[in-house]
Amino acid sequence: MRPLLIDCDPGIDDMVALFLACASPETDLIGVTTVAGNVGGLLTTRNALDVLAFAGHPDVPVVAGAARPLVAENLRGHRGAHGDLGLGGARLPQSPSQARDGHAVTFLAEAISRSAAPVTLVATGPLTNVALLFALHPEAAGRLERLVVMGGAIATGNITPAAEFNIWADPEAAHRVLTAPGVDVLTTMVGLDVTLRTLITPDRAAALAQTGRAGRAVADGIAEYLAGTDGGMPMHDAVAVAEAITPGILDCRPCTIEVDYGPGPSRGNTLVSFLGAGTTTVAVGADHPALTEFVLERVATLG
Ligand code: RIB
Ligand code: CA
Repeated sequence: MRPLLIDCDPGIDDMVALFLACASPETDLIGVTTVAGNVGGLLTTRNALDVLAFAGHPDVPVVAGAARPLVAENLRGHRGAHGDLGLGGARLPQSPSQARDGHAVTFLAEAISRSAAPVTLVATGPLTNVALLFALHPEAAGRLERLVVMGGAIATGNITPAAEFNIWADPEAAHRVLTAPGVDVLTTMVGLDVTLRTLITPDRAAALAQTGRAGRAVADGIAEYLAGTDGGMPMHDAVAVAEAITPGILDCRPCTIEVDYGPGPSRGNTLVSFLGAGTTTVAVGADHPALTEFVLERVATLG
């Protein structure tokens, strides 16, 4: 089994991503770290604990990380589409587990160094913890089998016309991870170009709700979002975890990525070039209906 670490900011789609990881026999989820993003760090940590317990994995270590971006407070007062508690309309029982002591970055470094098999790290929130891992523990970061980042875009934005939320929330961290990591890590950016086309529609959510408590939790989580749209809820983070679980489920191309971490209107933009190539790839396509079913059928197996 492939050891997996997830750094996240639950978040409704982070919840779907964690459900997918817990429902996938190909991987062993050896830890979850949290970062402020969709909601503050206390809530993302609480949500990660509750989601894992709900999925039958209260034993997976959860360790809290950065409560603020590296430099600028883009998140101050930000209220996103995930509701005040971060999981939309989903109300999960409180897990009996507590977050581990210590900082997420130390946990990530130790978990990577301890693992007998190379670890895949998936980041589904702002990249503050990952940037700090690269800065403080380059030897551990260099042992990663792969880093899969949900974030950025080749040609669009969702929090501004130029930027995707995870990158916009901490562009300096994203620059460090995606442009100047300082270590050789095979990195794949899974951006809005593919995640915005991998949707849970209202009809599919209604069917999912009939499959069991995990499906109902997802349907409850996205209900308010669906009420306000006519397309569906993008499963941003689950798409990144799907690629980590099943490498190649996404069509990924070699590229280089520049991140705009300046103060202007394009702050947080990811400029993707296919002219050069290093250790970075970007997702450019997928069989979106099949990808949606891959995710939701596995969520349904949690019962
Ligand atoms: O832009 C989508 C990303 O921002 C997802 O990770 C979602 O959870 C939010 O964090
Ligand atoms: Ca997220």
